[in-house]
Amino acid sequence: MPGAIAYISRDTDGVAWRKVFTEAFGPLDFRTIGEGLGNTDEIEIALAWKPQPGLLRTFRNLKMIVSLGMGVDHLLADDQLPEGVPITRIMDEGLVGQMSEYAIFWTLWHHRDIEKYAASQRARRWKPEEFVDTLHRPVGIMGLGSIGQDTAVKLAMLGFPTMGWSRTAKTLPGVETFHGRDSLPEFLSRCSILVNVLPLTRETRGLLDKKLFAALPKGAFIINMGRGAQVVDDDLLAAIDSGHLAGAALDVFNTEPLPPEHPYWLHPKVHMTPHMAGYTNPRTASPGVIENVKRLRAGQPLINAVDPKSGY
Ligand code: NDP
Ligand code: OXD
Repeated sequence: MPGAIAYISRDTDGVAWRKVFTEAFGPLDFRTIGEGLGNTDEIEIALAWKPQPGLLRTFRNLKMIVSLGMGVDHLLADDQLPEGVPITRIMDEGLVGQMSEYAIFWTLWHHRDIEKYAASQRARRWKPEEFVDTLHRPVGIMGLGSIGQDTAVKLAMLGFPTMGWSRTAKTLPGVETFHGRDSLPEFLSRCSILVNVLPLTRETRGLLDKKLFAALPKGAFIINMGRGAQVVDDDLLAAIDSGHLAGAALDVFNTEPLPPEHPYWLHPKVHMTPHMAGYTNPRTASPGVIENVKRLRAGQPLINAVDPKSGY
């Protein structure tokens, strides 16, 4: 009998994952942290989202850790992760599509002045705003991984001059690409909308700071759907309040849930969502995980593996 699969998330109950696993493998030993993990020596595979630091190390026969999010910072933040146990992540095309929708929504919302029209409606005012040609609204995407690439290509298809920035060189249809720190100032200097979808690593923590905001053109708009810890909140607020930035749409925060006293809540130019840009959908996320369970048990190389050294 293969070992147990443990579902470790406080956000969701694991019912949908148990269903897709049962459909794929028949009756199996699927345990959840909510129902109790039992004898953890029997756990072979951990499906995890923000596990308590140190917990995975106590599973003495663990053979694979699966991140239930596309981001893996929640796992790599655990400095007691069991050594030598491979880490993989979900690759969820449904989630990728939602992330692109999120970036496209805020891009169009800002580009087409929807907030001004909503205010005009409330004031019974018929007032067309000055229009900006789509060709004069360049959008830059920081991070050209599975999400950033999809977002960039879709924005380019809408007609926005689209640029992308990554660590290593990339070629994408209709997208002007930049890579490496040296190219960052030139990339930023041309972005009238900046979308951040970088993974949180040593290099990207605090990257969106006063220096980066100053490098953007006046009136630029920020969309952050990467991680909150990539933004220096005080620097963002100062850049908006000084009038240098037009505003920001934020899905992720340094502390989640955002504390009630945080200035973002009531700031008129900050638009918040509660980390909902992309939901993990077991229907679209599970095929890659199921494939990896089969590969693990057959001794074959895993897909969607994470390199803990690069941090993503
Ligand atoms: P990937 O790992 O597929 O891609 C990461 C991209 O970031 C790559 O292009 C990589 O460059 C680039 N990158 C990493 N480090 C640097 C650096 N120091 N400088 C420049 N570029 C860098 O990630 P995904 O697209 O799958 O996901 C990105 C992030 O989105 C996740 O880590 C997570 O934090 C966030 N996310 C947020 C969600 C939400 O609901 N808000 C939902 C899902 C994910 P290269 O291509 O050269 O390797
Ligand atoms: C993820 C997330 O990483 O939802 O998948 O943030």
